[in-house]
This record gives sequence, C-alpha cells and structure tokens, in this order.
Amino acid sequence: MSKTLRILAIESSCDETAAAVVEQGRIVKSNVISTQIPLHTLYGGVVPEIASRKHIERINQVIREALRQADCTLDDIDAVGVTYGPGLVGALLVGLSAAKAICFARDLPLIGVHHIEGHISANYIQDPQLAPPFLCLVVSGGHTHLVEVEDYGVYRILGRTRDDAAGEAFDKVARAIGLGYPGGPKIEQAAKEGDPLAIPFPVAKVSGGPFDFSFSGLKSAVLNYLHGAQQRGERIDTNDVAASFQKAVIDALAGRAAAAIDELGAKKFALAGGVAANGALREAMRQACRERDVAFYYPEPLLCTDNAAMIGAAAYYEYLAGRRDGWALNAVPDLALGER
Ligand code: KG4
Ligand code: ZN
Repeated sequence: MSKTLRILAIESSCDETAAAVVEQGRIVKSNVISTQIPLHTLYGGVVPEIASRKHIERINQVIREALRQADCTLDDIDAVGVTYGPGLVGALLVGLSAAKAICFARDLPLIGVHHIEGHISANYIQDPQLAPPFLCLVVSGGHTHLVEVEDYGVYRILGRTRDDAAGEAFDKVARAIGLGYPGGPKIEQAAKEGDPLAIPFPVAKVSGGPFDFSFSGLKSAVLNYLHGAQQRGERIDTNDVAASFQKAVIDALAGRAAAAIDELGAKKFALAGGVAANGALREAMRQACRERDVAFYYPEPLLCTDNAAMIGAAAYYEYLAGRRDGWALNAVPDLALGER
C-alpha cells in the first residue's frame, strides 16, 4: 500500500490565520482557525495593516496548534501547502513566509495554492466521493465565479462578477442598515424575520455574458431605498430590507447557476466560499438541482468560510499533478484562477 501523504496547510489571505493537517487531500486531522473578525468589526471591515500584524502575532501558535491537534510533528509532514493569492498582499506574505521557512528548514516541498481553488476543494473534504467534472458556484467576500471544474486543478471560468462580489454586497448592505461586519450571517439572521417580497429590488441583467453577475446596482438600489425612506420620514424595517436584498442576490446567483447547469448538461453541482454558508442560497440551489436531477454538494459552514483544511485538499491534488514551488514564490494579490 502506498504511503499516506500528510500536508501541513497554511492560509492567511484575509482576516483568518489558519493552519491544518490534511491526509490524502480528504481527511482533516486538524483545522485551526484564529479569526480576527471581532477586531475588524470595530472598523466596519477588514483593515489590511491590522490584519498583517495580527497574522504575524498568531501564525506560529496556530501552526503549532494544528500539529498538536493532529498529534504529529514536522517530522510527520510530507509537504506544505500555502495560499499565495489572491488576497491582501501583506496578509498573504505572512503565511507564505512561514511556509517557506518550514520547507527550507525541513527540506520539504512547497506548494502554492490559489485561494479559490481552496474554496472549491472544500467540497472534496465534505464529500470523499466527489470527483470532477462538476460545476461550481464560488461565492465569497472577494469573488463570485461560476466555474467548470474539468479535472483536479483544471478550471474553466464560465462567468464572474463585473463589479462587487456577492459577499461584498452582503457586507456593504449590512453596514448601510446598521447590522455591522461581517454582513452575510447578520443579513441571513435578519432576513428570517423579514418579508422577501416587501421591496422589489432589481436582479441585474448583464449584457454580453449569460453567466456573469453584477451586484453594484443592487447595492445602489438598497441605498436609494434607504435614503428615500429617510427623506420621507418613513420607518425602515431592517428585516424586510435584509430579506428583500437577500432574495435579489439569491435569485441572481441561483438563476445563472441553473442556466449554466442546463447549458452544460452538468450532472454535479457544488457551492463554495463564505456565502455558500447561507441557508437560503443552499435551499435555492438544492431545489434547482433536485428539479434537474443533478447531485448537489456544499461544504459545512466551517469549510465554507476561510480555513486551511481546504488549502490542504487543493495542495494535495497540486502535489499529485507535480507542482513544486521555489523560494521565489511571491504573494500575488490578484492571482487569476488557473494561472501558474
Ligand atoms: O470565503 P470567505 O470567508 O472569504 C473570502 O475569501 O472572501 O467569505 C467571506 C464572505 C463575507 O463577505 C461574508 O459576509 C460572507 O462570506 N458570508 C455570508 C455568510 N457567511 C459568510 N454571506 C451570506 N450568508 C452567510 N451566512
Ligand atoms: Zn475565502
């Protein structure tokens, strides 16, 4: 029997300092996440300089804890996988430098991982049977992509947002209605008490790209609604705004995703990224998949938002494909998916 490949994975692209130990790309031995959310909440969003500083303070402890929880030491690690883009450059550099230092000291292979590839790969952990090809909707704070996963590490982007990412829209609208950061979970909670049909916010149509998205018009529509209501002295029902906004986002996401499933004749569909933790989005996609007899996959909430286990899963398949990075590997804030 071949030896188990054990990867130490590191993620520090935004506001979570994370490390994990993953075996064979699918078995999570530990998944440690030190979140900075309470800190950034004070400022209404992620402050890049503070994020970098906190990553530096926490990275060594987080890595040590991931090894401890996995009941192993660096002697048991076969390779190190690390997010090198996209993300905040200062934040990425902290995880990348830690990974390089470990690889240099221990003579281990270094594997750079694309953050979105990590999000997609969270599905491999959740469902050990899932294998490409499948269609994936990646919805996070920085990205909204409809991706055809042709094989492990082989992606074809069918559509993307032309402006704001879905999670960014959640965060901006949450701030406008006074719910704070991060907006997604707070809007989801408020929406449960509201009427999704109370305010008919527009679902943007994007010309020229059947699977592209646009959320900045929706964000402006919410802001205009709030200003108009304030000027008229009307009471604003925050729950109704949250529910109506969430419905507009989900209609756009689910509508395009369903159209892509039909066009490609996809048999498997997966959600990925922080917004995939949203229960209403999951329900909409579960129904769309059921109606089409398509298998539906989604990671548990902890694997949807930023974590290092997903980076370990992605790194495993990159390792099998022969990827090895050198000391020149740099942080790439705007790294494109599929770019090497
Ligand atoms: O994937 P992620 O942790 O970080 C990025 O790579 O961007 O995604 C964070 C985003 C934030 O915008 C957050 O508001 C959103 O995911 N989010 C949600 C939910 N949980 C997190 N959006 C909607 N509903 C949720 N339950
Ligand atoms: Zn992310």
